[in-house]
Amino acid sequence: MSLRIKFTLLITFLLAIIIAGISVSLFFTYKQLYRAQLEQNRQKIFKDFNYTCTEAVTVRDEILIVNTIRSLIETHRPSIVYAGYVSPTGIILSSIRDNLRQDSFNYRIFKLSRPADDNFMSERSEEIFEMGLPIMVKGEYGGTVKVGFSQDYLNKQIEDTVVLLAKKIGIVSAAALLVGILFAFILSAHLNKPIKILSQAAVKLGEGDLTVQVAVDRNDELGKLSNTFNEMARRVKEIDELKDSFVSSVSHELRSPLAAIDGYCDFLLDGLDKNMTPDKQKKALEIIRDSTVRLTNFINNILDLAKIKAGRLEIKPIPTDMKDIAEEIMQLFVPLAARESKKLVVDIAPDLPRIYVDPERVKQVITNLLGNSLKFTPSEAVITISAVQVNDRIIEISLSDTGVGIPQADLPKVFEKFYQVKEGANKKPKGTGLGLAIVAEIVKLHGGNITVESTVGKGTTFRFTMPVWRQV
Ligand SMILES: Nc1ncnc2c1ncn2[C@@H]1O[C@H](COP(=O)(O)OP(=O)(O)OP(=O)(O)O)[C@@H](O)[C@H]1O
Ligand SMILES: [Mg+2]
Repeated sequence: MSLRIKFTLLITFLLAIIIAGISVSLFFTYKQLYRAQLEQNRQKIFKDFNYTCTEAVTVRDEILIVNTIRSLIETHRPSIVYAGYVSPTGIILSSIRDNLRQDSFNYRIFKLSRPADDNFMSERSEEIFEMGLPIMVKGEYGGTVKVGFSQDYLNKQIEDTVVLLAKKIGIVSAAALLVGILFAFILSAHLNKPIKILSQAAVKLGEGDLTVQVAVDRNDELGKLSNTFNEMARRVKEIDELKDSFVSSVSHELRSPLAAIDGYCDFLLDGLDKNMTPDKQKKALEIIRDSTVRLTNFINNILDLAKIKAGRLEIKPIPTDMKDIAEEIMQLFVPLAARESKKLVVDIAPDLPRIYVDPERVKQVITNLLGNSLKFTPSEAVITISAVQVNDRIIEISLSDTGVGIPQADLPKVFEKFYQVKEGANKKPKGTGLGLAIVAEIVKLHGGNITVESTVGKGTTFRFTMPVWRQV
């Protein structure tokens, strides 16, 4: 069953319960009120009759009494069955509806002993409600008046009205229910539409269309859900692109050193019979060695990344001299920098305290940052590594270059794995985009923090903090 039908059914059910509840209580309240009103009317008629009879008895006008009794019967047919007066001497003046037998009710009128309200069954099994009152003239008993009201007629009156009322309530309820169902249907359509759009979009996304976006323009939860969906689709697309670029980077990273090794091995083998000069042999071997180093680094990066993912990248901190590390790495990079006419500067404060770090991992951080600086700077660039003490607990190490810089929009993402700044439509970035992700993780494991500042065309500075060694 579709969501729309379910929703409509639920609303209909609730509406039906509410309408039924209201109708039933309305019905019974009205019925009660109506009965009370009819009974009140009866009281009034009887009081008026009693009043007129009292007047007539006072002036001893028997004709007036007889006329009053007759007109009462005529006026309130068939509600009143009989009406009568019995004088103190036992004379009965009475009138009976529909020419029923006179004496069938005279005995009731005569029964002075009970001049109060009473219910009884007539000979024709009609339920009758009798009202009686003594007449008092100047403090003396002047006879009794009695009126018999048809209880059956009263009940029938109530029943007729109630049936009419039930019909009216029924029609109004049915109309309300219909309108309610219509509204529920429209409302469910209003709610259902964006859900349908979203589910279709999700199917498309599942089928691999990563460009899918939904256009739902509303401010409620469904609007938020749509925005979240769009954001998710956008992220999936981004990750897919990263994956593609990673695959192409990886194949490039593997292929180019392997091609170099392959090429130079052939070159050396060819040279064996041709008396190749030792100089040329040395050069070829150096290229082969550099290529294997590049491959090893690449594989190490991949392995480190796997360790980070599994949460198994560990550090073994020892008290370490930052200056030693910086100089050791600089020595390694000097030949490469010289070849590219780049200047390396070490600027470490002389009184810098020792730091408590894993020296191999810190070397890896600086190597990565330095490698990037060499990669992303033109010749004649200056690359500076410096370190200062921030407070008695941390020192800050920074690596700045006068290179191409990183656009502001890319800055927050450079520490994400596989992320590389796209330099141009066709230009492939050199690397795999793993270096900074690993660097950031190592800094984090040391309890430090890494930041980057950059101006496109001017240069980039990476800064990270490391803990000072403190003897316990
Ligand atoms: N010093 C820098 N100057 C300009 N851009 C930089 C610099 N350092 C990093 N970047 C940008 O940040 C991106 C991510 O750097 P990261 O070191 O993570 O990857 P990579 O150097 O491309 O590849 P890998 O380090 O895995 O070989 C680089 O591709 C580059 O676009
Ligand atoms: Mg790098």
